[in-house]
Amino acid sequence: MNYKPAAAIVYASATGHTELLAEMVEQALSERGLAPDRFRADQFDPIQLSRYDIVLVGTYTWANGEVPKQLHKLFWEFENLSHSPITAVFGTGDRCFANYCGAVDQFRDMLYARTALAATLKVEQMPSEEDRVRCRQFAKSVAAKFHEQAHLFETSK
Ligand SMILES: Cc1cc2nc3c(=O)[nH]c(=O)nc-3n(C[C@H](O)[C@H](O)[C@H](O)COP(=O)(O)O)c2cc1C
Repeated sequence: MNYKPAAAIVYASATGHTELLAEMVEQALSERGLAPDRFRADQFDPIQLSRYDIVLVGTYTWANGEVPKQLHKLFWEFENLSHSPITAVFGTGDRCFANYCGAVDQFRDMLYARTALAATLKVEQMPSEEDRVRCRQFAKSVAAKFHEQAHLFETSK
């Protein structure tokens, strides 16, 4: 299998936790040869989604389990997408809140229905060195999903 998938990470982060997690996920994916483009949500036009075979979304959670505003357009674009990329969602939150990482759950439910969802990952607040292991596991699930479905991508190009 020689086809190299186009992969993107799109994330929102207000205080830096999810940004650090996005960097760790990027590194874990790169170790598997899936070098992704990494974008902050405000740098990414959701129209570009159609260019990618693999899309990973990173989100913090806001106000009682809500998806942050910066990711609303992306969420909507996934709901209206005509192709079905491999996806995964990761995020940070705080267990003090009743709806821990609720935005990850909202993306998970939508991506499960609309795309080929490979994995989810939740980290409490600032990621630690131990979370690198979880990021590697997360990247492994994404790569496995790609290999499982690679024939679909090869024939559609
Ligand atoms: C006003 C406010 C509301 C929040 N609501 C939630 C919530 O409902 N669920 C949750 O898990 N975390 C909640 N958090 C915690 C953040 O999601 C958490 O600190 C996260 O790591 C921030 O990520 P960032 O550093 O990438 O912005 C809230 C934080 C603030 C300040």
